[in-house]
Amino acid sequence: MRRNIVAGNWKSNELFSQADELINDIAEGLREFDNTDVDVIVCPPFPYLELVGDASEDVEFFVGAQNVSKFDNGAFTGEVSAKMLQSMNIDYCIVGHSERRKYFNETNQDVAEKVNKLLEADINPIVCVGESLAQREAGTHFDLIRSQVSEGLFHLDCEQIKKTVIAYEPVWAIGTGKTATKEQAQEVHAFIRAMLAEKYSDDVAQEVSILYGGSCNAKNARELFAQTDVDGGLIGGASLKAADFIEIARSF
Ligand code: PGA
Repeated sequence: MRRNIVAGNWKSNELFSQADELINDIAEGLREFDNTDVDVIVCPPFPYLELVGDASEDVEFFVGAQNVSKFDNGAFTGEVSAKMLQSMNIDYCIVGHSERRKYFNETNQDVAEKVNKLLEADINPIVCVGESLAQREAGTHFDLIRSQVSEGLFHLDCEQIKKTVIAYEPVWAIGTGKTATKEQAQEVHAFIRAMLAEKYSDDVAQEVSILYGGSCNAKNARELFAQTDVDGGLIGGASLKAADFIEIARSF
């Protein structure tokens, strides 16, 4: 059965001492509540993975990276490979975030290659999809999401897709304070799940967690997570405040 998940995407934020304080506060907050119904994932910038990994040793949460190289180890200056992440016991990795698609020209083909590297290294990919405001206004958002999901993921077999988390993040909602309504989120999540059911099977579709991302916060999380096909959230801004992040993790 699909899991409830709350993943914090710190993006390119925090200095080392701030990251240290933030993860300690998050660990403290998680210690205080029984979170067996939700998997909490913290995705810091690469240099802080070890720090966050250390904090996860005595409190139950998972550690995720925000990006991975599509190449193996070797002469690829500046890249971080899936094998390196695996050697640090990283559990999850975000792939294809809209900021990477926009600023680093990541394509669906890149997403597919990165997903493959992660699965080979036994790391669960969190694959982001979502339309721009112009695409939503033009009514082409379902087409866009269909191509992002199918080109990024549909080469996977049933076992591989079950290890993959999908995050629906409308670009117009990310960091804008303009959250999708619960109806808008549910509609797209149901669309993605129907695609999975058609490509694989109903059973497989029920095993894949689909997260909502885009100005999800402690006030609106409960309503969003209550939707049938919304299995949790990928949280940006609100994951940088420990109390808010914990409150979101309690919102199921
Ligand atoms: P936000 O970001 O919560 O700050 O809107 C979400 C994301 O980009 O993953």
